[in-house]
Amino acid sequence: MKIGILGSGKGSNFRALLTEIEAGRLDAEPVLVLADVEGAGILELARGAGIPCEVIREPKFRTKLSPEVEAGVVRKLREAGVELVVLAGYMRMVKAPLLEAFPRRIINIHPALLPAFPGLEAWGQALEAGVAKTGCTVHFVDSGMDSGEIIAQAEVPVLPGDTAETLHARIQVEEHKLYPAVVARFAAGDLA
Ligand code: GAR
Repeated sequence: MKIGILGSGKGSNFRALLTEIEAGRLDAEPVLVLADVEGAGILELARGAGIPCEVIREPKFRTKLSPEVEAGVVRKLREAGVELVVLAGYMRMVKAPLLEAFPRRIINIHPALLPAFPGLEAWGQALEAGVAKTGCTVHFVDSGMDSGEIIAQAEVPVLPGDTAETLHARIQVEEHKLYPAVVARFAAGDLA
């Protein structure tokens, strides 16, 4: 199964997918990495692994892509033969051109137990709310903010003395297990 990855940040979830693929435990082929942030770590990782990567340039908006730029993303994903679009720390909303091109074939990982704490810095929202547990969620992407159908979740305890950094780090440990496991279900044809 050919996967295309969209990211904005350091790319540790992408790295976790690569690790499983390289170990022969995940039957997927990353064919394209796109980042909307110049210099994002995820691009460095892709280059290091010899995977084609490109920067998406969006001059007008910060929280979404303009329709023409997003249509360009669709073109690139299609040209690369992408079957599943994997958002890995991609911090923009996805709009019609991409959603319509890949129905039920765009997934995202979010650092909270959705529907709790959608949006930015979900681990900080969890700390602020004083919950005893949080976690991460893999979900189908729809036009809302982290509102698509939930595919899988993993729980993480919030511990006394946690800071935003320690809690996010604990959540990421679970993300790096959950995301490859869900992608494997797509590769096996278990998720239609
Ligand atoms: C991850 O924790 C991911 O869940 C979060 O960004 C981080 C990216 O880390 N995504 C969101 O908050 C999306 N709403 P990474 O670049 O190391 O994979």
